Amino acid sequence: MRNKAIIEPFRIRMVEPLPVTTEAQRRQSLERAHYNPFLLRSREITIDLLTDSGTGAMSTAQWAAMMTGDETYAGSESFYALQEVARSLTGMKHVIPTHQGRSAEHILFSVLDAKDRVVLANTHFDTTRANVEYLGGEAIDLVIEEGLSPASRHPFKGNIDLERLEAQLSREGDRVAAVLMTITNNSGGGQPASLENLRAAGELARRYGRPFFLDAARFAENAWFIHEREPGQQDRTPREIAQEVFSLADGFTMSAKKDGLVNIGGLLCLNDDTLAERARALLILTEGYPTYGGLAGRDLAALAVGLEEVTQPEYLKYRVASVRYLHEMLDRMDVPLVHPAGGHAVYIDAAALYPHLKPWELPGVTLCNELYLEGGVRAVEIGTLMFGRPVDGAHDDPAALELVRLAFPRRTYTQSHVDWLADIVSEVVARRSTARGLRIKKQSLILRAFTAELEPIGSA
Ligand code: F0G
Repeated sequence: MRNKAIIEPFRIRMVEPLPVTTEAQRRQSLERAHYNPFLLRSREITIDLLTDSGTGAMSTAQWAAMMTGDETYAGSESFYALQEVARSLTGMKHVIPTHQGRSAEHILFSVLDAKDRVVLANTHFDTTRANVEYLGGEAIDLVIEEGLSPASRHPFKGNIDLERLEAQLSREGDRVAAVLMTITNNSGGGQPASLENLRAAGELARRYGRPFFLDAARFAENAWFIHEREPGQQDRTPREIAQEVFSLADGFTMSAKKDGLVNIGGLLCLNDDTLAERARALLILTEGYPTYGGLAGRDLAALAVGLEEVTQPEYLKYRVASVRYLHEMLDRMDVPLVHPAGGHAVYIDAAALYPHLKPWELPGVTLCNELYLEGGVRAVEIGTLMFGRPVDGAHDDPAALELVRLAFPRRTYTQSHVDWLADIVSEVVARRSTARGLRIKKQSLILRAFTAELEPIGSA
């Protein structure tokens, strides 16, 4: 059958105009933003692929639920509705709302006493690592070797290396505060972990008496990949698969801004009563009362509906197919990519695209600048500006990879946006040999990518 078209499984009932700019305006905007796309304003951007976090569109059912959100401070009915949905999806006893993922992480690693201990993960997302380190712990990444190789087409590049996990568990003993699986593995290219690997990691953690947690920001996309790719899983629904995955864990953190299909929100879910009690005490201190956790009642109501919608097979099929669609088009144009397509994003290997640029000439940010200049497209660098460290009197300590992430907001752009985007990339690729690179003019010592000021190499 030739029918390859993706049908968006929704129709659009509310629209927002796309800002359309001229090349002269984009040049000016980029100069004003000091060549760092983080410093652009929304009205200067035509297609924004900076992140899939909190940028998606909500459904009519979610908006309807928002209108009846219960704004009661303590005992909000919207909380109880969310608790019911989250319990039936995840089987977790304690459902603790937070305002976003990183606050759930901060509370979790505080109650797990991460200080002077280690957390073992496939790959920690930046905020997860930062929270572990801030609390005095060490975040250790143990993703399989294929997960670090852009060209590898392993179907589950988000898997954790079980041998190295066991070696760490046996060496570190009680110093292991938790084993954590990020699904999908965002920092590794949005790649999934298999059910088999999740089961085995959970089993190892249990054997060594250590708690097993999930960073479940993109749990539904991960479940869909398991459904598509893992032998024997084709007859199970993504919801059934997700339920099994959650059943393996002692708890999870979730940035609901991804697979919660909401613009703001997070969850910390736990089975252990003592941990949950400590988490709620900290929640009251930092986020708010346990029946709202830093969110409005209407936010809780929208999340309850989002968690039901996100596991619908038609939605997930479209979601993964639309990211893969761009990936296939770029691959046909010989753009160097991370393979296979991730669940939420396509990653371009900027070091391979610009072999003439050194890491400290920021090939990733250079590509982001080029995409913006060509078509007002915003993407994000995941390379030396984000992860490299300034070294006194020398070039920066480079990152392992120079990637550019094109992340797709959920239910927001259509296939013709993606076709148009592919044309923009093709123009940028055609002039790849003339790209000049950037240098850092001003930077802060922590999280510099968000605020650094840059300038083109060769400018006065
Ligand atoms: N875990 C993962 C895997 C994430 O991707 C993110 C956020 C977080 C935790 C933190 O959640 O933003 O709600 O506090 N990722 C966004 C991104 C920012 O662009 O990938 P948060």
